Amino acid sequence: MSPGPITLERLRLAHLPTPLEPAPGLGAAIGCPGLLLKREDLSGLGLGGNKPRQLEVLLAEAKAEGADTIVTTAGAQSNFCRATAAACAVLGWRCILLLRGDGTAEPAGNLLLDRLFGAELHWIDTTDPYADAVQVRLDQLEQAARDAGGRPWQIRLPGRTGALAAAAAVSLADELLAQWAEPPGHVCLAAGSGLTAAGLLAGFGATGVATQVLAISVQQPESFIRPLILRRAEEAAGLLGLDAGIDPSRLVVDDRFIAPGYGLSSPASLEALGVAGRAGGLVLDPAYTAKALAGLIGRLGEGSIEAGAGVVFVHTGGAPGFFAQSAAIARSLGDSALS
Ligand SMILES: Cc1ncc(COP(=O)(O)O)c(C=O)c1O
Repeated sequence: MSPGPITLERLRLAHLPTPLEPAPGLGAAIGCPGLLLKREDLSGLGLGGNKPRQLEVLLAEAKAEGADTIVTTAGAQSNFCRATAAACAVLGWRCILLLRGDGTAEPAGNLLLDRLFGAELHWIDTTDPYADAVQVRLDQLEQAARDAGGRPWQIRLPGRTGALAAAAAVSLADELLAQWAEPPGHVCLAAGSGLTAAGLLAGFGATGVATQVLAISVQQPESFIRPLILRRAEEAAGLLGLDAGIDPSRLVVDDRFIAPGYGLSSPASLEALGVAGRAGGLVLDPAYTAKALAGLIGRLGEGSIEAGAGVVFVHTGGAPGFFAQSAAIARSLGDSALS
């Protein structure tokens, strides 16, 4: 007999469940009547997003291991690092962040919040989150914290922590399943590390719901991120003791909206960001959610997804990133006001 699903330990840090709400204005503006928004941007913990849900689980593990210091890494405008810094401030823990870049990034958006929340910042001059040098530096920072008498715990989303973070994101699927009246045809979201998409896939797979996960990649080509999402979904299902398998046909990855690069706006993403503001009163961010919405708009336009099947757009947050690129956004709003 199967042992049944396993419940993950959580620290209560986020505002969950997040709302699922209709977005008639935005839906009409993008040709998607019936559009629903899953408001992960309202999850709290230092301005919200999809990370607080994961951090509740990741930090519960750290706490169980006796940690009082978190060591983690990402880009300079990382929402994950900012939410981790906020969580550490709540818990009274030390937060050590290794950020990618040469240390000259303007202290705006998430980077400013990292400092506000009292995190210690270190820099590594690479753009590759998967580079071996990143792991080496993280290990050094962890060791230095231990030598100073702390009890450090390392979180590495592109690494050992990934499976647990994906398992934490299964609760996003569980919430949606409880909130919607009927399963929609598509749930669309941004994919960076792909862990949130993996959690959705595992959660939907466990119930056999036919909803397609439409992951708009913002950083990695499909050839890299699709197998990773599928692997993390399998691992998450394994950690949670979920019986049903992962159906790869339920995952669609679209990498056509990455250009001109991770974190950089495109005309399509700036247009999506503007339409979400004007028609939905929403704040999207240039790196993730604006590109995800641009992807949704693009696919609706080309007919590769059908609005009539029902669409949920997961607003995964990222508002601080909006303010980190205010000059470029202001320019684009000026343009669209003229057109
Ligand atoms: C605002 C926002 N949206 C989406 C994502 C992508 O989530 P994932 O890394 O789980 O694919 C991130 C990840 O950093 C994010 O910060």
